[in-house]
Amino acid sequence: MAAGKGTRLKSKHPKVLHEVGGKPLLAHVIAAATKVVTPSDIFAIIGHEATHVRRAVEHTGINFVLQEDQRGTGHALMVAREALSSYDHVVVLSGDAPLITSGTIERLRDYHLRRKAGMTLLSAELANPTGYGRVLCRSPHSDEVKAIVEEKAATPAQKKLREINSGFYAFAVKPLYAHIGELKTDNSQHEYYLTDMAAVLTKAKVKVIAIKTEAPSEILGSNTRAEMVEIDALLRMEKCRQVMAAGATIFFPQTCVIDADVEVGADTVIEPFVQLLGTTRVGSDCRIRSYSIITNSDIGDGVTIRPGSILDDARVASGAVIGPYSHLRPGSDIGEGAHVGNFVETKKIKLGKGSKANHLTYLGDAEIGAGVNVGAGTITCNYDGVHKHKTEIGDGVFVGSDSTLVAPVKIGKGAYVAAASCITEDVPEDALALGRPRQTIKEGWAKAKREARAPKKG
Ligand code: UD1
Ligand code: CA
Repeated sequence: MAAGKGTRLKSKHPKVLHEVGGKPLLAHVIAAATKVVTPSDIFAIIGHEATHVRRAVEHTGINFVLQEDQRGTGHALMVAREALSSYDHVVVLSGDAPLITSGTIERLRDYHLRRKAGMTLLSAELANPTGYGRVLCRSPHSDEVKAIVEEKAATPAQKKLREINSGFYAFAVKPLYAHIGELKTDNSQHEYYLTDMAAVLTKAKVKVIAIKTEAPSEILGSNTRAEMVEIDALLRMEKCRQVMAAGATIFFPQTCVIDADVEVGADTVIEPFVQLLGTTRVGSDCRIRSYSIITNSDIGDGVTIRPGSILDDARVASGAVIGPYSHLRPGSDIGEGAHVGNFVETKKIKLGKGSKANHLTYLGDAEIGAGVNVGAGTITCNYDGVHKHKTEIGDGVFVGSDSTLVAPVKIGKGAYVAAASCITEDVPEDALALGRPRQTIKEGWAKAKREARAPKKG
């Protein structure tokens, strides 16, 4: 069920597309479900902002059912009647409860089938049950359910019950649809509640039971921003634990943000306030220093990323040193043992083995060989206002500080570019290129000026 608006979030975006642990809520639920059944047997009931929701998850290969007006969780199942007609049983998951695991889904399914129930709901004992539906059992020690009562309709005595409805169910399809028409909207929300099926089926003498989850934290729903950040924190901490179990150290893990698909090698050390996002892969023996944000990048072994560096879609080979305050933009390919230092921005470049660009430099659309020294303040002028052009720098080149290299331009192997040159023409191998005005000296000029300006004494 993923059709709801999520009114309590006060958001213009649909609830199930809000992200925790770097992924939409719904994507987590689908990931758990696809470990149990094939995507072609999964149906997402969508409605609010259906196009967006579908686009966000359609790559998973699941099916969609459209619930045009969202008239409650019971109504969501009403519109799925056609889609479920060829199945005997269905497990219903809430698209806003992202911590559910495939193991729990399987336990729910197996228990439901074993007990030959018409409806089995997954329940949980929560220390704070506020906001959830309460499970009313037939007798204190029975797992047979009489009804589910929503928080808003619960009496003070019922509110004290700590067994809550998780919003995950298994149904036998036949009795579900034989009786779903008996649901009423006589509640404060004027909605069809799927939870009322418990009372409807019980009345029809269909077996309704509850199975208590062993992992209550898995069923946490995210109806509010506060609940969402709590779930995000749980997921982040779990990911940090996995990364540490695989051999990396994370200092102050509660300050680090590591997305689900990130991989980190053994003996790598991650300092506080680091973010590793998307599909980033970090090798072993690296040190990622504080305040670095690395997205969709591939970092080799033994790399040091100094503080405050930002990497997007970059590749850094083993032994390289990046930062502090480097900005590696998409297509940056930094060679083995290379150095990219303070306030250096790179985009779509190849920096060869052992080459260095240590200070205050922009390198864009450039192919730079091995053993090159790029002096402080060097700029590749890659853009003429309309097109981007390429700069090629051969192995062993020395580019003096404050040079501007106006692309397209080639600097041959082993050449020298004198400091502060503006290079507009290709430089042959092993040559010296000087592209700056000659220096002139005017002896005594400054002194004379000072004296002319000084106030007259006396
Ligand atoms: C629901 C249960 C409550 C349970 C809780 C667990 C009902 C009436 N109550 O409450 O007993 O304790 O989950 O988290 O079911 N949705 C649709 N179509 C709709 C309405 C909702 O697809 O017309 C979807 C929502 O997008 C959401 C899910 O169903 O993913 C649950 O809806 P929500 O409004 O969050 O129900 P709760 O109030 O949390
Ligand atoms: Ca909910």
